[in-house]
Amino acid sequence: MKKRVFSGLRPTNLIHIGNYLGAIKGQIDLQNKPGFDCIYGVVDLHGITTPYKPKDLPNQIRNLALDLLAAGLDPQKCHLMIQSQVPEHLELAYLLGTIFPVSRLEDLPTYKDKKAENPGYLNMGLLYYPVLMAADIMLYKADTVPVGKDQVPHIEITREFARKFNLMFGKTFPEPQAYLMEGAYVPSLKGEGKMSKSIEGSYILLTDDLEMIRKRLAGAPTDTGKGTEVPQEGGVANLLTLVELFEGKDIRMKYESQYLHEGIRYQDLKHDLANAIYEEIKPIQEKRKFYEQNSNLVEEILEEGRDYCSIIAKETLREAKEKMGLV
Ligand code: AMP
Ligand code: TRP
Repeated sequence: MKKRVFSGLRPTNLIHIGNYLGAIKGQIDLQNKPGFDCIYGVVDLHGITTPYKPKDLPNQIRNLALDLLAAGLDPQKCHLMIQSQVPEHLELAYLLGTIFPVSRLEDLPTYKDKKAENPGYLNMGLLYYPVLMAADIMLYKADTVPVGKDQVPHIEITREFARKFNLMFGKTFPEPQAYLMEGAYVPSLKGEGKMSKSIEGSYILLTDDLEMIRKRLAGAPTDTGKGTEVPQEGGVANLLTLVELFEGKDIRMKYESQYLHEGIRYQDLKHDLANAIYEEIKPIQEKRKFYEQNSNLVEEILEEGRDYCSIIAKETLREAKEKMGLV
């Protein structure tokens, strides 16, 4: 029996190299492994928990589907779907919500972060975010979830949901595991925290050209380039992490040695790093053009995803309702 994989991204128009290395690369990795049945979602219902413009949303959803296909999701090897087209996600979320303490949800760091980011937009959906995410995963009885490190608390809570449901109503759901890649935590260009679409200046987008990448890297803080210890945090440490992710460990070690001896010339480091990043994302930009010109194909891919998911979703929901006594 194949293992089931589920993962999703919110449609926000700003897909950065953190999303790519942390989440999308894991999705690609798993679709290419035998023994995994992969479902990937544009999770639009999660997208509407933070401020957005309804008239822009359809484009954002479509853009994310294009980005994912361009980045390497292969419709022959995975199913790509739009979350709101399979309403069972919401129904299961409601059912799961009835078995879980509110206090546990209020304590989640992700909820606290969002609360701090948008104090004027504290809606029920935000509190329900992890419940819906657990439903996304559990609806397909997925056991493997490729995500970035910041999502690990959400996977942990999904495991709690599964355990609790199984305990109350009988074994139904597996306890899923996060699947983390080497780039599970891509740091911010600003010297602290992670690369994030909500922090201007922290990211490089998948759609950036070489000039833009250079410009964004130019803003990353550095130091004199020399010292007795290689910094473990801050701007330089973050740049070295990016060097390792895009140019490999050997190049990172070369810079570390320079730091301790003759000194790093950051202009050169940033120049080479920009080239390496662009090399990696250029093919994605080219492939995106192909999908942009073949919108019928994209529609077909999404229809296939919706139909495939609907069948599984209906079956799981029927089972869950039956176990809960809702017949
Ligand atoms: P978000 O952009 O927050 O909706 O995240 C979409 C996916 O990208 C999730 O799986 C995140 O864990 C992942 N992700 C977001 N930011 C980063 C980052 N800086 N490094 C690694 N993964 C990330
Ligand atoms: N919360 C995830 C994020 O911020 C998106 C997401 C929603 C997700 N449902 C999911 C990820 C299910 C993995 C599995 O990116």
